[in-house]
Amino acid sequence: MNENEKRLLTAVEERIQSFHQKAEADPYRLNYHLLPPIGLLNDPNGLSFFKGRYHFFYQWNPLEESHGAKFWGHYSSEDLATWRHEPIALVPSEWYERNGCYSGSAVVSDDHLFLFYTGNVKNDAGERETYQCLAVSEDGVHFEKKGPVITLPEGFTAHFRDPKVWKRGATWHMVIGAQTSEGAGAVVLYTSDDLYRWNYKGIIAGAGRDALGGYMWECPDLLEFDEGDVLLISPQGIEPEEDRYQNLFQSGYMTGALDVDSSRFSHGDFSELDKGFDFYAPQTMTDEAGRRILVAWMGMTDSQEPYHPTLNYHWIHALTIPRELELKDGVVLQRPVNELKKLRAGAFSVRSKELLAGEKWKFEGMGVESKELIIDVLKAGSFSIRLRNEAEIHYDCQKGRVTLTRRRLDDGSTERRRVDVSRVQKLHLFLDHSSLELFLNDGEHVLTARYFPRVSDDSIIFHSKENVMFSVEAYTLRSNLNVHS
Ligand code: FRU
Repeated sequence: MNENEKRLLTAVEERIQSFHQKAEADPYRLNYHLLPPIGLLNDPNGLSFFKGRYHFFYQWNPLEESHGAKFWGHYSSEDLATWRHEPIALVPSEWYERNGCYSGSAVVSDDHLFLFYTGNVKNDAGERETYQCLAVSEDGVHFEKKGPVITLPEGFTAHFRDPKVWKRGATWHMVIGAQTSEGAGAVVLYTSDDLYRWNYKGIIAGAGRDALGGYMWECPDLLEFDEGDVLLISPQGIEPEEDRYQNLFQSGYMTGALDVDSSRFSHGDFSELDKGFDFYAPQTMTDEAGRRILVAWMGMTDSQEPYHPTLNYHWIHALTIPRELELKDGVVLQRPVNELKKLRAGAFSVRSKELLAGEKWKFEGMGVESKELIIDVLKAGSFSIRLRNEAEIHYDCQKGRVTLTRRRLDDGSTERRRVDVSRVQKLHLFLDHSSLELFLNDGEHVLTARYFPRVSDDSIIFHSKENVMFSVEAYTLRSNLNVHS
């Protein structure tokens, strides 16, 4: 360990000592989502399964509650339900990463865990430099840095980052998010036989060739399903269009086919993965069972970020719950992973509840924090569910539309996100102390949001506009942490 790394780790340790208790005391601290102990978390990184454990790393600035020189924080788990916090995996201590060990991915080869990440540098002239770097581990916890394995090719600005590596046949492939010299977002492809030497293959998507546009495409991920390939991207610079692209930055996918020889990803249109407010930079992994698991940053770098009440408690942001993906008829479906059932403690259910037009019903019996609710709609009609008087889910049966509203943190106004759903049959809702994730009709649509209700308000109120009947199955969810570092 060099002196720089020692100095940074000592500073982090001191800061954790000073603020961790305060962070833990925050009533908005989440119970079953992965969080930074203190400081700022953003993208999930390096999702992998190695030596019997899942490994989720995350972009972390432990030295401030703002964006800066990122570290890689690290959680591991046997079962995707309970987690232990591991020692910091990457510290931005070398010249090629001095302004951050930025996002990247992990693969297992020869009994070692290989991390690929972007070394972010602001040089003395104030210009950005970027290096795609490698670090290798035998035990999955301690990493040896191998330094840069890819430098910036011709034709791109230094917005060139977020390597995602996977194996196709016998060859390693890597996609990287990029901005062309002309200022267009793009995804580029590299291949390698040994994970150390990489060959540039070309631009597979974007670069002004796609209708989507955008000035930078971050965090690409290429997923192979039986039905076809899916390219995930987090494009920046997309203008809002009716109900689409409402957040500052988007995250979504295009289905198609990657042809490595011609270095082209032929594909259809871009669809957003999550229509809520707080969802960005998703990453996936394939586990031993062949499941495709996705986790995203349950946050956004937008104008509301500086108003998060958790900043007073020295932490900000979290990861979403892990979701299993399925590609069906060209659509990516997302469902909470089954293992989350292990967190279920107390259960409570209400069968065949009928509400007449105009009736209100308060769901009572178990409080509201850290809950999972499965609502089966038995007789459809328009209704709304008001969550702790701070957020609301509204279903308009005639228009076939679900709207999620919440109060903005900066000016207190109400903002909304909408999806078209011809018939709502099931709402699967994950509520944590300051977050909600709503899965509609078994993952046809997902809406994710942070929200900050009055702490003492634990009301869930159903309000029917027309006659409706539904059943509710509810569970209290336990904490997902079994060991603290
Ligand atoms: C996405 C992103 C990535 C980058 C990382 C830095 O949120 O901007 O492109 O690697 O965050 O923390």
